[in-house]
Amino acid sequence: MSSTSAQATHKSPPPAIKWDGKNLQLLDQTRLPDTVVYEPQTNIEKTWAAIKALKVRGAPAIGIATAYGLVVAMQPHDGAAPEDFRRALKNAADYLISARPTAVNLEWAAKQMCEVAKSTPTVAALTRHAEQIHEDDIAMCTAIGEHGVHLITEGSTVLTHCNAGALAVSALGTATAPMYLAHKQGVRFSVFADETRPLLQGARLTSWELAQAGIDVSLLCDNMAASLMQAGKVDLVIVGTDRVAANGDVVNKIGTLGVAVLAKHFGVPFYVACPASTYDLDTATGADVPIEQRDADEVRAPWALPGVKVHNPAFDVTPKDLVTGYITNVGLISTDQLNVLADANINLRP
Ligand code: MRU
Repeated sequence: MSSTSAQATHKSPPPAIKWDGKNLQLLDQTRLPDTVVYEPQTNIEKTWAAIKALKVRGAPAIGIATAYGLVVAMQPHDGAAPEDFRRALKNAADYLISARPTAVNLEWAAKQMCEVAKSTPTVAALTRHAEQIHEDDIAMCTAIGEHGVHLITEGSTVLTHCNAGALAVSALGTATAPMYLAHKQGVRFSVFADETRPLLQGARLTSWELAQAGIDVSLLCDNMAASLMQAGKVDLVIVGTDRVAANGDVVNKIGTLGVAVLAKHFGVPFYVACPASTYDLDTATGADVPIEQRDADEVRAPWALPGVKVHNPAFDVTPKDLVTGYITNVGLISTDQLNVLADANINLRP
């Protein structure tokens, strides 16, 4: 690593998820950065609606919220006959899975909870496992930071898309983990955050989160990345992901594919930060991943005519060939080394 200044401070954003062992509260991210408000999740319908409306968002955070949401949903069923308990849990899990289709962590966490109940159908066992998913997530973020921090050298500029930060995960985030660690080590670098139309996760969340941490961040409209790269002002791209298919294709926020194509054209390394929980061994390629289509008003508001037709897929697929490397909790790996991530994914299972 290049020369460093004194260790910098790291102010974290408010946690996306609050859990006290029994009660779940979710930070309403649709109101950020203006208002920091938590909503108590007293029933599963509220949690479904919070996931659907992106009050809680980002693949790992959705997974953690799902696990805790299922604990809350099952509290009234504690002590029920094992088969009744498992049936109620399966119904609740299927219901939450229906909220958003693309981020694999949602389904992954819901299925893990059902797996736990096969041997131990109690709220205590579900609670332990949900807390384990949360703890594993924090540890994976730290490991991603450690495996990616060397990519951010003194004076470099990093471009990111959407929000794969602490708000989308826990602790250090995924794409932001190398940034937070580099900043902590005193490396001077800057970040360009795409605003990320239509819901502006980059503008509302990433630029807010990084600025609070004292990281030099500049916000740009999504259509400005090309000229920035052409001018040689981007040294590397780091993005998060909602799902990496078994072959290495990367599904992430709409617009990621465009950034990857640009990066290839201009010779900029394109890295994907991926915890083992987001690697999907059961889905062969990116083409097999369901892409969430969202409400037309998200694109229309507030400028377009109310009735204008709209195309609004929430995610796109970046082919594996455009990926320079995957920054994972088990190392910085290439497409040829995804078997290491597969093993790590299997080790997370109950
Ligand atoms: O629609 P969102 O805001 O949930 O989309 C989030 C993303 O695309 C993130 O990049 C991804 O979930 C990774 S979060 C570590």
